[in-house]
Amino acid sequence: MTRIGIHDLELATAHHVLDLDRLAESNGIDPNKFRLGLGQDEMSVPAPDEDIVTMGASAALPIIERNGMDGIRTLLFATESGVDQSKAAGVSVQRLVGLPPQVRVVEFKQACYGGTAALQAAVGIVSRFPEERVLVIASDVARYELDSPGEPTQGAGAVAMLVSADPSLLEIEPAAGLFTDEVDDFWRPNDSSTAVVDGALSVTAYLDALAGSWDDLQSRGGPGIADIDRILYHQPFTKMAKKAQAHLAQHTGAALSTALTEGEAAEAEGRDTGLAASSLYNRRLGNSYTASVYAALAALLDHDSELEGRRIGLFSYGSGSVSEFITGIVQPGYETRGHADRVSRALDARVPLDVPAYRELHSTVYPSAVDVETPRVTNAPFRFAGISGRARRYE
Ligand code: CAA
Repeated sequence: MTRIGIHDLELATAHHVLDLDRLAESNGIDPNKFRLGLGQDEMSVPAPDEDIVTMGASAALPIIERNGMDGIRTLLFATESGVDQSKAAGVSVQRLVGLPPQVRVVEFKQACYGGTAALQAAVGIVSRFPEERVLVIASDVARYELDSPGEPTQGAGAVAMLVSADPSLLEIEPAAGLFTDEVDDFWRPNDSSTAVVDGALSVTAYLDALAGSWDDLQSRGGPGIADIDRILYHQPFTKMAKKAQAHLAQHTGAALSTALTEGEAAEAEGRDTGLAASSLYNRRLGNSYTASVYAALAALLDHDSELEGRRIGLFSYGSGSVSEFITGIVQPGYETRGHADRVSRALDARVPLDVPAYRELHSTVYPSAVDVETPRVTNAPFRFAGISGRARRYE
């Protein structure tokens, strides 16, 4: 059987950053609540001339530069924070990155799960057309109301992946565990630019979905816990991955380390499955919804030098809710990517915001009925130039 999976992967984020200590200070909250209680240090904040399209295109461009365009006939764009009710954001990306017109483009939506649905669809397309490659983009801006409990779990980021036969990074294995359960834990009505969330319910719904998708994986003949070397979780805030790891350990009876930092790891009991390494980027990005678990994958590939031939488990959760547990085998030579320095330089290069500037940006929402030219702020390869004739313009 042809091996199919992730051949290349790239992470992009937004122009600005907010240090959560500043937010805590301004809101009269102990900074340790965010750093230790949520496991978050910073969050990315888009400039006025950035959005899911510009971040997604910025993630996709280096993949195209490294791999060329030959055989890319499908672009799947997953997002919770879509910018249009009708047009797929990927259509703008197709033009921006210079893909030819002979490409099918579509948008996937199911909260934070959409990226995994797109990845599985890509695997299916490549199994039908083994000469083709599929560009998958997961890109999101996580927005909650100001002064709400969700506020410190905002963030922004995009991951682009090239899915192909004979992949260089991660072969996706055929068994998958699925779990869907209609629940009002988190959603975003069409007339709202921020998510509506029942925080406590969202945490229990996530953990129930983890157990449900794990049980389905077992019933489908997927690998047992002892045969999975590293485990990645959707990380709305990195402490959620720690909660998930504890839940999976209890559910399976396995002794798994729940250390979320190198410091905790020294004293932790149980098998290390990469929780600390896989949370390094998300701790600084904040929630990137569809991109989050793939940002965890990027962090693991960049910081764990012993992955060759190892099996990774990946749990994807999208509120509402749909979830999936998949597994994959890391391919020889993956460590030659050498992206760690580049990603940390990009994270360090974000321009810090103070709280008043962040609050003003948060409140800036461009209505489609008003023509506008956005200020030129981002130094990313692409920018959201504004709105004219009710259409969003990118350059
Ligand atoms: N020092 C250290 N820790 C502290 C502290 C301090 N001074 N003060 C509080 N804490 C700890 C608390 O003990 C708690 O830890 P545990 O969870 O381990 O018990 C943690 O900080 C959070 O504190 P609260 O329980 O008071 O919770 P909160 O009211 O701040 O809300 C939240 C937390 C519900 C996650 C909220 O941030 C939220 O609504 N976030 C958005 C929803 C979300 O991310 N849900 C996750 C599952 S859904 C999903 O995954 C999909 C998605 O992407 C949205």
